[in-house]
Amino acid sequence: MKDITAERNDLPLSLLQGEGNTSVVPFRWERRILYLLDQRLLPHEETWLEYRSARDVAQAIRDMVVRGAPAIGISAALGMVLAAYGLKDKDRDFFAEKWLDEAAFILQARPTAVNLKWAVERLKKLVRRHSELNPDDLAAILEKEAISIWTEDVKANLAIGFHGQALLPETGGVLTHCNAGGLATGGYGTALGVIRAARSEGKKINIIVDETRPWLQGARLTAWELIKDGIAVTLVVDGAAGFLMQKGQIKAVVVGADRIAANGDVANKIGTYTIAELARANHIPFYVAAPVSTIDPVTLSGDQIPIEERGSREITTFAGKEIAAPGVEVHNPVFDITSHHLVTAIITELGVLTPPYGPAIYACFS
Ligand code: MRU
Repeated sequence: MKDITAERNDLPLSLLQGEGNTSVVPFRWERRILYLLDQRLLPHEETWLEYRSARDVAQAIRDMVVRGAPAIGISAALGMVLAAYGLKDKDRDFFAEKWLDEAAFILQARPTAVNLKWAVERLKKLVRRHSELNPDDLAAILEKEAISIWTEDVKANLAIGFHGQALLPETGGVLTHCNAGGLATGGYGTALGVIRAARSEGKKINIIVDETRPWLQGARLTAWELIKDGIAVTLVVDGAAGFLMQKGQIKAVVVGADRIAANGDVANKIGTYTIAELARANHIPFYVAAPVSTIDPVTLSGDQIPIEERGSREITTFAGKEIAAPGVEVHNPVFDITSHHLVTAIITELGVLTPPYGPAIYACFS
């Protein structure tokens, strides 16, 4: 496979949103309006919602209209552009104060995926650096930067696919968890980018996805986007992974990440740690695919990563119907930590990182 990333240094927005990017893309940016594909309604309804303020984008991230670490970061960046255009006629001091209030608000939307903080901090740095500009001009450079965050993410995913496909077997089952595809990123995907690249290389792998209770990102989103892309996929329940590994039906696991600590510990969708332990017990490689923007070098280990707890109704109801015993207590942590000891390799756009992860991660930032 040819490294196509070098040829994609200046991806136009039109390319990201359609031609050249074969995966689904979860947002559109048109005439300073953000449109988000409502992922709560997939796969049965493709509804695009319109956003004109940072507050509304923050709410969309909280409500999981858009989800997945890189997609949250890109949406937040575009949300901050909306905030800037809303303040473009104000004086510079008023702009700075109010725009930072909006940034503080959007940063609270979801706690685990570090891409949100990474993207907003990148825009904050730009505002600090251009203290001479008036708000109108600042809004324009913020828009350019937010689009760069998006295009860089797609390029990173193409590079991750390029590096990662070589690690997958020629045949056999490859398990993925949750959705780390086009829908979770600027397009193409991280874990699904590796799978897409392996398939376009002609590898005859069988893709297996688990449901990913309780939000069903696997059953609803991963299955939908792969089928849409013409890639066959088999759906299993979350508890099936161990049995399939024992039976030799899974040859490799590839998942995404919401945050990777400086020592290589990985926060990803709840259930990831269980799969990693099962992979180790069954001598199966366990790969994590993520852009460098998902690595948080200031968080030293996984136990320092905040784990989001979501509402009980995600578990006690199904398709709007009560399914659990009335009065039951619910605990719903939606991410878990996989120790770096269980990770065979971390696939980034810069290359494949292998243990010891501390120095490998340090090298990504130097
Ligand atoms: O709660 P979500 O759907 O935002 O969580 C997303 C995940 O955990 C994905 O598995 C993922 O790999 C990170 S995004 C590429």
